[in-house]
Amino acid sequence: MAGNFGKIKIGVLVSGSGTNLQAIIDGCAAGSIDGQVVCVISNKESAFGLERARNHAIPAHHLDHRQYQDRSEYDAALVSILQEHAVDLVVLAGFMRIVTPVLLGAFPDRVMNIHPALLPSFPGLDAQRQALEYGVRVSGCTVHFVDPGTDTGPIILQSVVPVLDEDTEETLSQRIHVEEHKLYPAAIQLFAEGRLSVHGRRVKISAK
Ligand code: GAR
Repeated sequence: MAGNFGKIKIGVLVSGSGTNLQAIIDGCAAGSIDGQVVCVISNKESAFGLERARNHAIPAHHLDHRQYQDRSEYDAALVSILQEHAVDLVVLAGFMRIVTPVLLGAFPDRVMNIHPALLPSFPGLDAQRQALEYGVRVSGCTVHFVDPGTDTGPIILQSVVPVLDEDTEETLSQRIHVEEHKLYPAAIQLFAEGRLSVHGRRVKISAK
């Protein structure tokens, strides 16, 4: 996508703790992301990510998926909140739901996700456990644009971590989380600078 958005408006979708959300809020505050988190939405009322938003006076919305007939209807409700806040970029940060063309069509090439594995290995749930069970020597995290598949969209950035013999799901997850908190803000900043363009499966990063 061409163009420099300047200070972009970011809408973040979470289902859980929201440590990636926190890294993005902190990046915006520190000026390493030319953007502002303008709303946070969760399908889970108890998600600590909503609390993090409130702590920073960011509008926090709970949208219960059980109140909607199907995924499309739910996504239409998401879109209307995101559009009310004039969001430029939708960031999935531990949002444990499949999104539909209703959301993707409203924000073409403007929905990002982070996944705790080196895609295309280990998509879907429990990526860290899948990596340990397979016995890989390295894993990591991937930021990608979202397409209608599960963790299949064009890859923006990846970061690698070692898998150690003594690793448990917990210790590997912690090592990956440290990288996620650097990688996601970096990918969002590339978007904010208008430097990302999608060409089929490949994302090109233009020079500054
Ligand atoms: C992150 O590790 C993210 O990669 C993962 O959920 C975690 C959320 O952590 N996402 C997925 O597994 C999506 N398939 P956080 O709530 O602390 O940011």
